[in-house]
Amino acid sequence: LTQAKVFSFPSADQVAQALDKFLAQASAEAIKQHGRFSVAFSGGSLPATVAKYLKDNKSVDFSKWFVFFSDERCVEHTDAESNYKLVKDELLRHVAIPDNQVIRISEALVGDSKRAAEDYDLQMSKALGCDIVNQPPVIDCILLGIGPDGHTCSLFPGHPQIEETSKWVTFIDDSPKPPASRITLTIPMLNHASKVVFVVTGGSKSKTVKQIIDGRDQTLPAAHVAPTEGGLFWFLDDATAKDLTAN
Ligand code: 6PG
Repeated sequence: LTQAKVFSFPSADQVAQALDKFLAQASAEAIKQHGRFSVAFSGGSLPATVAKYLKDNKSVDFSKWFVFFSDERCVEHTDAESNYKLVKDELLRHVAIPDNQVIRISEALVGDSKRAAEDYDLQMSKALGCDIVNQPPVIDCILLGIGPDGHTCSLFPGHPQIEETSKWVTFIDDSPKPPASRITLTIPMLNHASKVVFVVTGGSKSKTVKQIIDGRDQTLPAAHVAPTEGGLFWFLDDATAKDLTAN
């Protein structure tokens, strides 16, 4: 069983500072080991927290970064709902990541989530040079948020995509969180990552976080995230961590 490492900090600002250090180190290690750093972003509040200090961190070699999306809404890249746009505004426009190393949903396919998911899988495998049959590509670091219902990526409680075992990217057309059509990495894809990092701040999700970390409540998609060989990390503020027994 994956042992999660849980870190909590007095404020969300300190979470952002700690994430800056953590990602700078993860990036340096990955670049040393295999010449690049692959990282997947979620939407919501995560990109702003992650980028707050990282965007000015001159020690990071962003030219070696490959950016992916843990989940994406099926909208155009300029749409206010686009996770790509969000990450671009918060981080990408401030740092020198080559544009062709930002692997995003194909705009031509946003009207067809199933094909958009298949295409994203192909783009991802190509970018990461993965040709191992039946093995998902390995991302160095996947950054995740959670919802109050225990969703992560666009994997929602009670929805069948949570059971997916053979695909690395799937889709949903009835997401309870709008917009309804989305693509998302699957549990097997998440669990092949080298590092998975949950970032939760603000205090309103303390009960959900407890249900996942202490309760391992399998009705909550986020509780299925348990990298088989990689590390699992939680970056929380104290307001969110307050109910955890181990804390
Ligand atoms: C999305 C997200 C989603 C998000 C959580 C947390 O595109 O909707 O990727 O999974 O990470 O809902 O969002 P907040 O940080 O805004 O609460």
